[in-house]
Amino acid sequence: MNISRRSFVAASLAAPFAFPSLLNIRTGRPWKNEKIRIAKVGCGGMGSSDLSEVAKHKSVEIVALCDIDRRQLDVLRLGSKDKDGKVIAPLFASAVAFADWREMYAKMSDKFDAVVVSTADHMHAPIAMEALNRGKHVYCQKPLAQGAYENRRLAAVAASKPSLVTQMGTQRIATKWRRYGGKLLRDGAIGPVKEIYAWTNRPAGWWPQGNPRPEGSDPIPEWLSWDLFLGVAPVRPFKDGYTPFNWRGTIDWGTGAFGDMGCHMLDVPFYELQLGRPLTAYCTPVKPSTDQFPESESVVLTYAATPKTSKSGLTLKWFDGGQFPDFKAIGLPTGWEGGKGGEDVVKGDGGVILVGEQGIMWFPIDSAWARIFVDGKAVELKPEDLKSSNHWHDWIDACLAGKKDACASPFEKAGPMCESLSIGAMSSLDPGKTLQYDEASCTFTNSPVASAMLKRTYPSGWKVENL
Ligand SMILES: NC(=O)c1ccc[n+]([C@@H]2O[C@H](COP(=O)([O-])OP(=O)(O)OC[C@H]3O[C@@H](n4cnc5c(N)ncnc54)[C@H](O)[C@@H]3O)[C@@H](O)[C@H]2O)c1
Repeated sequence: MNISRRSFVAASLAAPFAFPSLLNIRTGRPWKNEKIRIAKVGCGGMGSSDLSEVAKHKSVEIVALCDIDRRQLDVLRLGSKDKDGKVIAPLFASAVAFADWREMYAKMSDKFDAVVVSTADHMHAPIAMEALNRGKHVYCQKPLAQGAYENRRLAAVAASKPSLVTQMGTQRIATKWRRYGGKLLRDGAIGPVKEIYAWTNRPAGWWPQGNPRPEGSDPIPEWLSWDLFLGVAPVRPFKDGYTPFNWRGTIDWGTGAFGDMGCHMLDVPFYELQLGRPLTAYCTPVKPSTDQFPESESVVLTYAATPKTSKSGLTLKWFDGGQFPDFKAIGLPTGWEGGKGGEDVVKGDGGVILVGEQGIMWFPIDSAWARIFVDGKAVELKPEDLKSSNHWHDWIDACLAGKKDACASPFEKAGPMCESLSIGAMSSLDPGKTLQYDEASCTFTNSPVASAMLKRTYPSGWKVENL
């Protein structure tokens, strides 16, 4: 029995009719004034936002930093200089630095209580799962994991650990309008939902997709641990430009535009409509690349009925890279915004439209507002009672308060949604064919090539308990 399980049992015995107060994993007692000690994996890009947001919380201490790019660690621990040569003091001088998260876990596991993961997608599952295995609370960036099976396992293991609090990094779900949209769906504002349309203008112009694998290799920079970036992905030679950021369009490391942006738009619909796993996935024929996701695609996923959908079930239609739904056919009125609206406003950077039996609901990608249309007319919405919150601090507060259920995107909810996103993304590896998803095995029954990425085999030497 691990310490966290023992703590939970003790709390349950002490207060059998109350929600068990979460105990400090370190002391075995309820949290008081001591700080929650955090280890941060992946410190550049979104990792830097994650780090600064969690560090702003008064009860947080950053004790360990891990990155495969030594430059990221040096800035945080040793400081930097601005363009005029002025010295900028380090933010986390006393944190211990690591290139390899496994070494960090092995050497410091007794010195931190929680882990924040912001690496490339393909490493989310091993790093987050090993944190759960070691009894740590986890905040993991979206998508929760790259493969369907990894998402399934993270959700199941998080559910089996009553004393651990988890949150996926989809901070937009903490906005007032997204909360309000969720409430409207819960209250049945548009009736049973029959279709979801979601679209993003990415990847075009944001990161490369649709290209063949680059030839040759470049020298590995002295600051980069390339083998650790690869981690559980197949070995390949280093090329300039793979990391940071651009990795997300490559099949070995990312989830393409669907997995990347779908999380921000589909979380509220998934959680509120209680969608399960898709029955089928179909990706339109795309320009083939065996190395990257397509530069443009549309994908259809079908779902069985839930109490919140039409009796015949629900269809999710995804569009990216310059493809869009037919807004007029959906029934969304154009020009409704005082004449300034029309398709360009609707398209924006992306968005999601839910078609219900009694109305249509629309969120833009940034969740700055929600709209409902009934019989072609906009309904006035007033989310006065709801406030936005800080998604990172919601997680820390939930860790401190022992409220496992207080987070908006716990792994138990995020896992099933990201399983769907993985299925959608990987359907592009076998386009132009209706793929049948087998929920029990987390694979397609009629596509070995796409199934290999839904449930990937880690290279020898990589074994993570529970994955
Ligand atoms: N929630 C959001 O709004 C949002 C926005 C952007 C990115 N993201 C997510 O954040 C994650 C990171 O994306 P990004 O754009 O910041 O990528 P990035 O490549 O810019 O940054 C990733 C950081 O992690 C480091 N890293 C990579 N592999 C590592 C490993 N195995 N161990 C330790 N460090 C490692 C990199 O060196 C880099 O510093 C992705 O999962 C992405 O989907 C979320």
